[in-house]
Amino acid sequence: MTSPRTSIHGEWSSRMAFVLAATGSAVGLGNIWRFPYITGDNGGGAFVIVYLICILAIGLPIMTAEILLGRRGRQSPINSMRSLAKEEGCHKAWQGLGWMGVVGGFMILSFYSVVAGWTLAYVFRTGSGTFVNATADGVSYIFDQFVSDPERLLAWHTIFMAMSIVVVSRGVSHGLEKAVRYLMPTLFVLLIGMVFYAMSTSGFSLALDYLFTPDFSKLTTSSILTAMGQAFFSLSLGMGAIMIYGSYLPRDVSIPRTAVIVAGMDTLVALLAGLAIFPIVFAYNLEPAQSAGLVFKVLPIAFGEMPGGTLFGTTFFLLLVFAAWTSAISLLEPVVAWLVENHGMTRVMASAWSGLTAWLLGVASLLSLNIWSAYTLFGRNIFGLLEDLTTNIMLPLGGVLIAVFVGWKMRRKSSKHEMDIEGDHIVYNLWIFLIRYVSPLAVAIVLLKVSGLLDWITQLLK
Ligand code: PHE
Repeated sequence: MTSPRTSIHGEWSSRMAFVLAATGSAVGLGNIWRFPYITGDNGGGAFVIVYLICILAIGLPIMTAEILLGRRGRQSPINSMRSLAKEEGCHKAWQGLGWMGVVGGFMILSFYSVVAGWTLAYVFRTGSGTFVNATADGVSYIFDQFVSDPERLLAWHTIFMAMSIVVVSRGVSHGLEKAVRYLMPTLFVLLIGMVFYAMSTSGFSLALDYLFTPDFSKLTTSSILTAMGQAFFSLSLGMGAIMIYGSYLPRDVSIPRTAVIVAGMDTLVALLAGLAIFPIVFAYNLEPAQSAGLVFKVLPIAFGEMPGGTLFGTTFFLLLVFAAWTSAISLLEPVVAWLVENHGMTRVMASAWSGLTAWLLGVASLLSLNIWSAYTLFGRNIFGLLEDLTTNIMLPLGGVLIAVFVGWKMRRKSSKHEMDIEGDHIVYNLWIFLIRYVSPLAVAIVLLKVSGLLDWITQLLK
């Protein structure tokens, strides 16, 4: 027996619609921009293995838990957590989990929309032949000039945020579902086309080697944190995006099976993005460790040289725009749902206000790339701070709190009901074990280690 509540915002028309929407949320800049560049920065194969372990042991179980909370609560994350905490006899502070998600969502959306703006700009730059026969220095120069120009960044950031507001303001079935129905299949076709192209280049076997032959000596503690943070970021976990999408999930759909499909697709896209990008990097003798610039500073060199590169490059950046768009809408949706539920706002007003707030924060993050670049904290500008704080700390923390709530606080009867499981069930037992012990412990160890506290504790115990 699943939750008897219904969502006032509507419901996905089918399981397929949910899978497309959740995959749309998961697959984004995280897969095509972030995954390849952090893999490059962290030395390749060994990092990929740690990432895959994080997805399986931590990400997938928490995704199942987050969808479950959403479908049982059937409201915005803040209200769902309030209702569920009450129902399960827990402290109302659990509502804070929903709040953290809302704040985290704004923070992510603000820098996310700035990068999405870059991808929009690059669709036009590549399309107009800017990179044809450009040198490596020339391409780097173009990117650096672009990022140091606040007006341009502002214009593209504004356009992207407006695109996201428009979709969310049209509602669950006419906005979100319609967008993902068109954008997701197109994205897959484009990506597979790119991988086929990459296979025909001389760099393909080098890329396979780079991505799948582990060299564990290259792994550091901070790479493990990065891999874990990336698993949360890429699966959209820990901030209510998957929870709100779960709240629109029809009753008869199996949660674990759906979570496996979504996490599987997300991982597949990240690996395919690696297989589309690294062969080109190697075929043109470029350097894989280029941080955030990998996609913008390295790939255009190859696009400028290869036959048909203008068309190919434009397609690539278009793919990134689509991926970012279907993720950005899932970052706005939790807040919009909450404004509609609690403040009686119309969806259009709620989308406009929340979009505007995220846009403002985005302006701060884009200015930190140029005129405010001197202002730093822990050696990071506002942009880097927002990216690190959300990805490496807030999302893992949010994810673990979700795991703790479902694993320790929620009655077994409730979670079994929501999963439609009776009696003893091996998959259920394994899942409970993972969210009760493995995920919280793994996240705690990594966070303690990175903050230096773990070393301090081991010193004390000696
Ligand atoms: N998963 C998205 C990506 O990989 C980003 C995202 C994070 C979206 C958290 C929603 C919530 O790009």
